[in-house]
Amino acid sequence: MERVGILTSGGDCQGLNAAIRGLGKALYLELGGGVELYGIEDGYRGLIEGNYRRMEPHDFSGIINLGGTILGTSRMPFKLMRVADDMSPDKVRNMKDNYRKMRLDCLVILGGNGTHKTANLLSEEGLNVVTLPKTIDNDVWGTDVTFGFQSAVDVAANVLDCIHTTATSHGRIFIVEVMGHKVGWLTLHAGIAGSADAILLPEIPYRVESIAEMIERRSKDGKRFSILAAAEGAISADEAKMSKKELKAKRAAENFPSVSYRLAKDLEKATGHEIRVTVPGHIQRGGSPCPYDRVLSTRFGAAAAKLVKEKKYGNMVAMRNNVIVPVPLKEVAGRLKAVEPGCELVGTARSIGICFGD
Ligand code: F6P
Repeated sequence: MERVGILTSGGDCQGLNAAIRGLGKALYLELGGGVELYGIEDGYRGLIEGNYRRMEPHDFSGIINLGGTILGTSRMPFKLMRVADDMSPDKVRNMKDNYRKMRLDCLVILGGNGTHKTANLLSEEGLNVVTLPKTIDNDVWGTDVTFGFQSAVDVAANVLDCIHTTATSHGRIFIVEVMGHKVGWLTLHAGIAGSADAILLPEIPYRVESIAEMIERRSKDGKRFSILAAAEGAISADEAKMSKKELKAKRAAENFPSVSYRLAKDLEKATGHEIRVTVPGHIQRGGSPCPYDRVLSTRFGAAAAKLVKEKKYGNMVAMRNNVIVPVPLKEVAGRLKAVEPGCELVGTARSIGICFGD
């Protein structure tokens, strides 16, 4: 009998349930009565505290289009895994103990960057681990794409579409702040799809003067509005020269709710125009997965089931050149996949006149 635990960890995204479904259905079909699946609740927290439930074949039906995660999730920072607190003196120890108590043969973990650091640690500590890359940020190293990303692009692009109509009516300038943590994938894709006039990414520090010039040029050309897609991690050229500590202190002193509000103030000063800010926030992670993510999650889930069946532990399933391949966890953990400023997509955007503020 193969006993497999499943958990979803970190920020949720669209496609988690579709991936759980792909995994569960493929495992039950392949191994039939030879497998038992256990859903661990609320991410690593469930493994630390020993909260889990048996999952039967019917649990994997009717969930391909369901947003969120049927298992629940939580954020458990990697750096605190060995730090004693109210929850536990040593969370890694708890997880190993519960894995053994549950008599698991393998643990399938669906998560993003932070989750992969812990997954690799558990693998190094002797647990059999297989992972799937999820996140709207698309920043997991080793895979061309993560599930959740495309659905979030759809949401953010739709926000930009909606802002276009009101910006046109009023002849206004808008900044739409897009999630993505420290990288600009979501902003780059949504910005192009949503026809933004400027795209500001953490990977390409901006200058206020350069954006102001673009706005003035458009005004002179008779364009009634300008729309900026700004990544939540966007950074100015001056800020890019600062140390992490200096930047943190500067932002704390400025006390703006987020980067877009500060940029709006700087641009108002530079252009004399009134600037509006829209922050769609967690809406970008909510709702149903788009069909692309349903297919991708199903492929990742079924591929993870194959790795479990073949006992190829210590791997993440990844997409490379449209082929699903295993990538060793130790290669993935601790690395970030950021937008390359000189990449083809940035070049394409520049070639049609999109301003990157540099
Ligand atoms: O990693 C996904 C993400 O949505 C990021 O884009 C964002 O910076 C972060 O999570 C928000 O985290 P939380 O949901 O904990 O507020």
